[in-house]
Order: sequence, then structure tokens, then C-alpha cells
Amino acid sequence: MKRIVFFLGKGGVGKTTSSAALSFYLSRNKKTTYWVSIDPAHNLSDIVHKDLHIKTQIDDFLFAEEVDVEGYLKNFLHETTNRMKEMYKYLQIVNLENMFDLLKHSPGMEEYALMYAMKEKIEENQDFEYIIVDTPPTGLMLKILSLPFSSKMWIEKLIRWRKRIISHRAAIANINPKKIDESLALTEEDDKVLKELGYQSEYVTFLIDLLSDKSKCKMVVVLNEDAMSLSESLKIKSGLNDLGLGLDFVILNKEGLGTVSNNIEKIFDLPTIRMPYLKNAMDTNTLANMGQRLAKIVE
Ligand SMILES: Nc1ncnc2c1ncn2[C@@H]1O[C@H](COP(=O)(O)OP(=O)(O)OP(=O)(O)O)[C@@H](O)[C@H]1O
Ligand SMILES: [Mg+2]
Repeated sequence: MKRIVFFLGKGGVGKTTSSAALSFYLSRNKKTTYWVSIDPAHNLSDIVHKDLHIKTQIDDFLFAEEVDVEGYLKNFLHETTNRMKEMYKYLQIVNLENMFDLLKHSPGMEEYALMYAMKEKIEENQDFEYIIVDTPPTGLMLKILSLPFSSKMWIEKLIRWRKRIISHRAAIANINPKKIDESLALTEEDDKVLKELGYQSEYVTFLIDLLSDKSKCKMVVVLNEDAMSLSESLKIKSGLNDLGLGLDFVILNKEGLGTVSNNIEKIFDLPTIRMPYLKNAMDTNTLANMGQRLAKIVE
């Protein structure tokens, strides 16, 4: 994979339309491209009029997919519950049967599932030259992007605590083996929880490395000529800066419909690409032509 591009922005500004424009432009230039939506309210299929539940070829060099977020969440919860049951089966005291319901209603689960979906889809599609990601509106997307970083901090802390537990356990077993249930691991290598934490750590590290690789990963914000989309885009810029990721390009979409366009470059201090209001913003040929303006994002 040469480049991965995230299209971010307020609801309705044209993230899907701009990501479509770049995807079709790349495909028409014979670049293998995977266009994926991780927005729970997908609308790639509105543009291509095909069911994109699974990865589907929609142009000579272009495949598209709308990640089934509900399905992912269900799978994620089932897998997590099963792994927990397996790991903690010695703990009769905890009602693991209720774990599924508890997890399902825990705050942040959708974001977690989306982070995992994003990771898996990117990893599965590394063979494409370009990956173009259409994202949900600002609040949710910033949470998804921050999750790998906050999770890594937690996982590292948990790994340290877990190692201490194992070492204390081993010390007790040394003095009196009867005090420790024989199903419990006494070494780091045998401990299933530690193994699981290691696995989780690899997961989030993959995403952190990818998102932080500025030569491959480009963050693009789309806005219109209205004060609200401008202020939300500035929040995205500072949110990305806080994560150490940074914003790379601004797309001023539907130019001419408002009044704030003159000093966008100055406001953001970033290269700005302008896209006019299109008569036929759903037509793939029109989009592929417009996509030429976006080519510099992947140069
Ligand atoms: N340059 C353009 N010219 C004309 N219409 C446009 C343009 N860009 C987007 N649109 C139209 O504006 C509407 C919103 O665009 P789009 O769905 O791409 O936005 P979005 O940011 O993906 O929205 P959401 O946050 O709901 O996913 C659509 O009807 C789309 O066809
Ligand atoms: Mg959209």
C-alpha cells in the first residue's frame, strides 16, 4: 500500500463525495484502489447503486466496501465474551453469562468495534496501492482515532500490573503450593490474560504505526463555506494535533455557496483544494474528473 487517505469533516460537507472523486480518479488512472466506509450511516452505495455489504468491484481498478458496523459489533462482543469466559472460567463468583449484555451496553463499545473494523479492513487490503477511507462525522471519528492511543496506555499499565500479580502468585506458590489453585499460571509465558494483553497491544500498535506514518497516511478535512463547518474543521485540526497525527489537506467543497473562502489557506496554514458546486455530484464520470484536483493528496 502506497497511501491511505482519511476524509474527515462535519456531517453533510461532502466527505463521501470527495472520497468518491479521489477513488474514481485513481481507478481511471489504473491505480488499484480500495474505497471503504466506516461510517455507520453509509452512503457509498448511493453513488454506485450497488450493494457494498461485501467488498465489490465497482470500476476497472476500484473496489468498494461499506463495513457492516452492526455485524462487527455483534461479532466483537461475542468474541470478547467467549475469550473472557475462557480466561476467567475459574472465577465462579462472576456471572459471565451476563457479560455479553453488560458489554453491549457499555459506553464506547461502538467506537471500539469501529476501531477493530478499521484495523482489520486496512490490514486485509494492504495489496491495494491506495486505501481511501470515508469516515463518520467529527465527534465519532475523533474518538475512533484516539482509541488506539488511549488503549495503548491502558494496555501497558495492565501488562505491568499483570506481571506483578503473576510474580506475587509465584512467590506464594513457592512458599505454599496449596494456596494457589492449580489452574492458575505461575509464569508470564503460561498466563492467558497476559497473552491476551499482548495480542491487544499488537492490534493497537499496528494502527498507531500506520496513522503516525506521515509518508503513507494523509488526513484530509472537508468543509463548506459556512461558519459551523469551518469551526468543526478547526476542532479536527487541533484534535489530530493533540494525537500527534496532524492534518495534511483542506478541501473547500461546494465553493461559491458561502462567504468564508478567501483566507482558508491562512486560517489552516495548509494546502487547500477547492471543489465547485457540481450539477451532478452523483455521476461517477463527473466525480473522476473532479478527482484530478485531489491528486496532490496522494502524490
Ligand atoms: N461539490 C458538490 N457539488 C454538489 N453537491 C455536492 C457536492 N459535494 C457534496 N454534494 C452533495 O451534498 C450532499 C452531502 O454530501 P456527502 O454525502 O458527500 O457528505 P458527507 O460529508 O459524506 O455527509 P455525511 O456526514 O452525512 O456522511 C449530497 O447530497 C451530495 O451529493
Ligand atoms: Mg458520508
